[in-house]
Amino acid sequence: MNVIEENRRESISTQLFSSANEASLIVAQEIVELIKKNEQKGKKTILGLATGSTPIGVYKELIRFHKKDGISFSSLITFNLDEYYPISHKHPESYYCFMREQLFDHIDVPEEQINIPDGSVDRSKVFEYCKNYENKISELGGLDLQILGIGRTGHIGFNEPGSTVDSRTRLVHLDSLTKKDAARDFLGEENVPRYAITMGIGTILDARKIILLAWGQAKSSVLAGAIEHKPSDSLPASLLQGHSNVQIYADLSAAGELTRIKHPWLVKLMEWNPATIRAAVTWLSQKVQKPVLKLLDEDYSECGLSDLLTQDGPSYDLNIKIFNEVQHTLTGWPGGKPESPDEYRPERATPHPKRALILAPEPLDDVIGMGGTMHRLVDQGHEVTVAYLTSGNLAVPDTDACKAAELIIDLAKQCENGETAESRFAQRSWDELQSKDDFAIDTDNIRRLKGLIRRGEGKMACEVCGLSADRVRFLNLPFYEKGKYRQFMLNNCDIELVVGLLEELRPHQLYITGAQAEPSTVQAVCFDATKRALDNLADADWLKECYLWLYRGSSQEWGIHEIDMAVPLSPTELGNKVQGIYQHQTQRSQAAISDKRTRDIWRQAEDCDRRLGAAYDQLGLAEYEAIEGFKRWCTRA
Ligand code: GLP
Repeated sequence: MNVIEENRRESISTQLFSSANEASLIVAQEIVELIKKNEQKGKKTILGLATGSTPIGVYKELIRFHKKDGISFSSLITFNLDEYYPISHKHPESYYCFMREQLFDHIDVPEEQINIPDGSVDRSKVFEYCKNYENKISELGGLDLQILGIGRTGHIGFNEPGSTVDSRTRLVHLDSLTKKDAARDFLGEENVPRYAITMGIGTILDARKIILLAWGQAKSSVLAGAIEHKPSDSLPASLLQGHSNVQIYADLSAAGELTRIKHPWLVKLMEWNPATIRAAVTWLSQKVQKPVLKLLDEDYSECGLSDLLTQDGPSYDLNIKIFNEVQHTLTGWPGGKPESPDEYRPERATPHPKRALILAPEPLDDVIGMGGTMHRLVDQGHEVTVAYLTSGNLAVPDTDACKAAELIIDLAKQCENGETAESRFAQRSWDELQSKDDFAIDTDNIRRLKGLIRRGEGKMACEVCGLSADRVRFLNLPFYEKGKYRQFMLNNCDIELVVGLLEELRPHQLYITGAQAEPSTVQAVCFDATKRALDNLADADWLKECYLWLYRGSSQEWGIHEIDMAVPLSPTELGNKVQGIYQHQTQRSQAAISDKRTRDIWRQAEDCDRRLGAAYDQLGLAEYEAIEGFKRWCTRA
């Protein structure tokens, strides 16, 4: 379904979709239509293609059109936007391999009509090579359509901030955030090539039509900047505003920072409801920097909220109403306060104790999102279980696996004076690690060893957060254990494992995350698995009584108005949570974005909880060191 709203602040035409799949199908259809139209005129279609997770859905649909509907792509000539440099075609993370795996090996574009910048060209010839790439596009009459994703720096192709509007195909240096984002694919940031060959912004702008795709909350701020801010080379995607035929397709999570979604009252006449009223009043309080209870009628009318005053005013009444609502989200009793009135509490008083199940896509998601709350639940006597849906083994660097193997081998030598079954396993893993080709897929032994390392980290982190290690479960969902980044595919046995766990534990509270994550991430796939498991259990009586709570993901921040339960943390509790996060030693090099800079994911979690605490304080509520926020989730929304 298309959600068309007031978009007058948007300088690029943007269509919103409830899911990436829906939008991907439309883009694929558009490509097929274009090819057919050109074929009728006896012309070939010149198509610019992108890599990354974003266009994968479009490629899947194109493959489906080819295999199921017999659509031929023989009249298509493709030009890829970019390629890492230096990199060989054989490198599994080269865009060459990516395009083969994701598209070209499955459709009938003739080999000689495929163009991907060559990351292995001799350095002395790169300039010439780039000029020829440009010439080839223009000799063919230019690109009919260019498909784009957007990077978290706002880059298109590999045109990082600072790229100018007239830049052409060239060799560029990669931004540090871009390298951090690519680190998972390359199994460590140190392995990410430092350079890339990319079409320039000028090259892209020469296309007759441009479609930019964006999915997931991680893209929301950069996307809003590209669409609503003045064009600037510090945000390369914003330079698309200078093109007369650009279309952006975004899912609702990626569109979350657009004015029409975030602050709709600024761009349209509102039909106010409790959620939008709360959003508007908390926004106003933050905007004029006054506590909610001090907002005046003038503040409302000067900031475009006079219709809200007319409907629900005066400000005195509105202020009290919203202040109380926000106040009622705060609780030190995330499992409900026993023997206390619970009319205004986010959780019910009974039953007590509750069975609380925390589902974490990977070890670490749980402590980042709710390490403090986990501790409270345990302290307050609830029966807490943490279940890791995947082992997270793909994110363990080889060096950590080597260290663990060494330890086991040495231990056997010292204690047993020789070998044990464990040390033989460790020795095999060690040998396989030593003979592993760069970027080769890990063997089963290595993955098992890496999974065990994360298991240990997960258990230790839970112990630090008050939960005994024997309350930690590992589901090892097959989609992950047998899969690869960007290519995870859920199947029935994944769902059945989640259903099995839910039925066994029948929790009163279920904590989950990943609702707004980019669709190819582990978090999004796990969320999907949980959602499907819950759909299967829709008739279960226990589920009707179960509260579903969403906790935030590692690089996710929620607006105060979105939060239904806010659990304050004292300085000691926050410190303890950070200690819990530190137990995930193998994840030390992960980074998240904060204020446009990269920041250690450990510190980021702390900052984020502190910011939420400060936001409550600013609204005139009590001043806490930090807060963990939760949203109530309704499966049938
Ligand atoms: C890479 C590519 C871009 C792509 C971006 C976003 O940097 N060079 O073309 O748009 O990543 O990647 P993803 O779609 O995985 O978020």
